[in-house]
Amino acid sequence: MLAGKRIVVGVCGGIAAYKVADLVSKLRQAGADVDVILTEHAERFVSALTFSALSQRPVYGDLWEPTGEAAARHIALGREADLLLVAPATANTIARLGQGMADDLLTTVALATTAPLLLAPAMESHMYQHAATQANLRLLAERGAIVIPPESGRLASGEIGPGRLPETPTLLAWISKTLGRNGDLAGRRVVVTAGGTREPIDPVRYIGNHSSGLMGFALAEEARDRGADVTLLAGSVNAIPPDGVTLRRVGTTLELRDATLEAIREAEALVMAAAVADYRVERPAGHKIKKGSADENPDGSLTLHLTPNPDILAEINALVTAGGAPRLIRVGFAAETTDVERNAAAKLARKGLDILVANDVTKPGSGFGTETNEVILLSAGGASERLPLMTKREVARAIWDRVVPLLRDRAPSSRDAEH
Ligand code: PMT
Repeated sequence: MLAGKRIVVGVCGGIAAYKVADLVSKLRQAGADVDVILTEHAERFVSALTFSALSQRPVYGDLWEPTGEAAARHIALGREADLLLVAPATANTIARLGQGMADDLLTTVALATTAPLLLAPAMESHMYQHAATQANLRLLAERGAIVIPPESGRLASGEIGPGRLPETPTLLAWISKTLGRNGDLAGRRVVVTAGGTREPIDPVRYIGNHSSGLMGFALAEEARDRGADVTLLAGSVNAIPPDGVTLRRVGTTLELRDATLEAIREAEALVMAAAVADYRVERPAGHKIKKGSADENPDGSLTLHLTPNPDILAEINALVTAGGAPRLIRVGFAAETTDVERNAAAKLARKGLDILVANDVTKPGSGFGTETNEVILLSAGGASERLPLMTKREVARAIWDRVVPLLRDRAPSSRDAEH
């Protein structure tokens, strides 16, 4: 998504300027071409040399450079940019941008470019909350700028409050999302489930599974970066959920069921990568179960009575059949260990899915907790496609590639005429 994109990063004079060096490095690693503009004040915090070493390109600063190649690049910077990010955006530069001033290279490029403008304000809390700064940010947002909310926490002044520049992964998420806003899922509302459910045994213990959330997160990120409005329902996970999506945390299968039924009301596609418990403990103990207590059987063993959980996808199928959510595209996963394709095909039919992603979780590099996955895509029409081992992000791309045409057929949007 970032590969081949031209990103201009304007760095202003704030202490968070040092953090942007890491962002530039990560953008380069992702294959983006990065041009850095330092304001006069930024150069007091960080050196141009740092940024030129990381971006492997000249760094721009002076609007009044003598004529020559560098001066000509100034004009081209705005024209060629796919995105202009200002980070950290200081109160001063926000005010200058709000007023449409062009008194240095950064503000000149910001006026000259037609690329989206992404602002990452970072400053002392009172400056950020000041009515003038807030009014300038509102004005810029009204004109189409996208404002990345600063994080709250300990600031350079020692105070605690809003004003921290978000960390690199968050900035990268905003950049990817902005670049993909006109993608083939633009304007589509989609729901992705990720991670495992947990069924309590007592206040201390639970029945869970090995899902890390990585597959679901890759699906959410891919949809986000193709312009979708993503609701991510995350159960128990051991990875960090992506930014730029609406995140809801759930615990048990019953909670996931309620959250899914609510989220699909507005959605056009549901992809269930979550590993969902088919059974729950009928009566979880209200206290920690102790050895030798009355909770045990006379022989010292312990019996847990498990009761079936609702099958969420089957319930949604019944809803669709009854006329509710008629356009919803439904994709399920099947974590299988034996007779993968046959079991998966049976699940596809039983749950009334459009696509089923069959996952042999016994294969090396595939299934739970891995960065990669090897799957077979089965579709309602009977087609079956075996994909090679690929990253979970690539698997996610392949899944959305197959969902997009279904969306166009079943729930055409005004934008589809353009594609
Ligand atoms: O999270 P990772 O570590 O990246 O691992 C990814 C994964 C292995 C969890 C993922 O690729 C996967 O296979 N997810 C589905 C796991 C699963 O629950 O499979 P299942 O065969 O039990 O369920 C079939 C489908 O029905 C799934 O889409 C599941 O979400 C859904 N289901 C299951 C049970 C239930 N009560 N209700 C459901 O809707």
